Amino acid sequence: MSVHKNGETTNGTKVSTTGVRLPVKLVPVPVKDVGLNAAQKAVLDPTVEVKPEIFGEFSLKGKVAVVTGGNGGLGLEFCIVLAELGAKVYAIDLPETPSEDFGIAVKYVARLGSSLTYRPSDVTDQQVISATIKGIANENDGRLDVLVAAAGILGHEQDCEEYPDVVFKKVMNVNCGGVFYSAQAAAQIMKEKEIQGSIILIGSMSGTVVNREMRWLPYNVSKSAVLQMTRSMAAELGQFGIRVNSISPGHIRTKLTAVVLDAQPEMEAFWASLNPLGRIGAVHELRGVAAWLASDASTFCTGSDIMVSGGHTIW
Ligand SMILES: NC(=O)c1ccc[n+]([C@@H]2O[C@H](COP(=O)([O-])OP(=O)(O)OC[C@H]3O[C@@H](n4cnc5c(N)ncnc54)[C@H](O)[C@@H]3O)[C@@H](O)[C@H]2O)c1
Repeated sequence: MSVHKNGETTNGTKVSTTGVRLPVKLVPVPVKDVGLNAAQKAVLDPTVEVKPEIFGEFSLKGKVAVVTGGNGGLGLEFCIVLAELGAKVYAIDLPETPSEDFGIAVKYVARLGSSLTYRPSDVTDQQVISATIKGIANENDGRLDVLVAAAGILGHEQDCEEYPDVVFKKVMNVNCGGVFYSAQAAAQIMKEKEIQGSIILIGSMSGTVVNREMRWLPYNVSKSAVLQMTRSMAAELGQFGIRVNSISPGHIRTKLTAVVLDAQPEMEAFWASLNPLGRIGAVHELRGVAAWLASDASTFCTGSDIMVSGGHTIW
C-alpha cells in the first residue's frame, strides 16, 4: 500500500502525513446559500429574491419518519410536528388499534396535507420491530429519514435493595433494548440506502440525575444507557452521514407520569419547585427540539444529548 501526497492510500483509506491514521473519512464542509452567504449574494444582486431561509431548513418535505411510542404522550406530539414539517409519518405502538387522540391527530395532519399512519408492533422484539420498520421503508421506496424512539415505560417505585428482577428486566427491555432495536433497524436502512438520516433517542433527565424522592432505579439506569447508546451509535454511524442524538425531557404530564401525579397530586408542586422555571413541562414544549434534530437545521449535531427540563439539572 502506498500513500499519496494528500494522505490518500491506494486502498482508499486516509492517513495523515505524519503517518497516524485518521479516525474518520474526511468530507467537505457544506456550503449553503443561507445566512451571510445569502446576504452576500443579495448585496451583489438587488433583484435576487430575499426570503427567510430558516423555515426551509426545518422542512421535512418528501421525507419518511417513524416514531415509536407514537400512540400518545410525547410520541404522538412528535408525530404531529414531523408531519407539520411535511414528513410522511408512521407511528408504532403496542395496541392493535390506536387511541382516540391518535385518530384526532390523523385527521388534523390530513388537513395539513400530510399523513400519519399507525402500525402496531413491539419494540422489545428485535425481529418484529425490525420487520415493522423495514416494512414501512419498503412501502416508501426504501426510504427512512427520521426515527424517533420514544416508546418507554417507568416501572413502579420501590427501594433499590428490594426491586424485583422481573420489572428491572422489563424496564431495561423496553427503554434500552427497544430503543436500540428500533434505532438499529433505522440505521440499517439508512446505511443501505445511503440516506443521511436523523435518529433521535428519547432519554430522560433521569439518565443524568436522580429524581429527588423517586425510587426508580431501573428507569434511571435504562435512561443512562440511552445516553451512551446515542454516543456509541453516533460514533459508528457518523461516517455514513447518519446522525444520532438524544432528547432528555424533564417532568411532563403524560400517561407515564400520570400514575404518580394522579395518585399523589401534591407531587406536581414538588416537581415544579425543583425546576428554576417553577413548573413542570407541557408535551408541546418538546416540538421545537424534535423538529430541529430531525431536520437539516441541525446537520452538525450528532452524539449530543439535549436536556429539556425547565432547568431541573442546573442546581
Ligand atoms: N413524561 C415525562 O415526564 C418524561 C420525562 C422524561 C422522559 N420521558 C420519556 O419520553 C418517552 C415517551 O413517554 P411519555 O411520557 O409520552 O409516556 P407515554 O406512556 O404516554 O408513552 C409511551 C408510549 O410507549 C409505548 N410503549 C411502551 N412499551 C412499548 C413496546 N414494548 N413497544 C411499543 N410501544 C411501547 C406505550 O404504549 C406508550 O404509548 C419515554 O421514553 C419516556 O421515558 C418522559
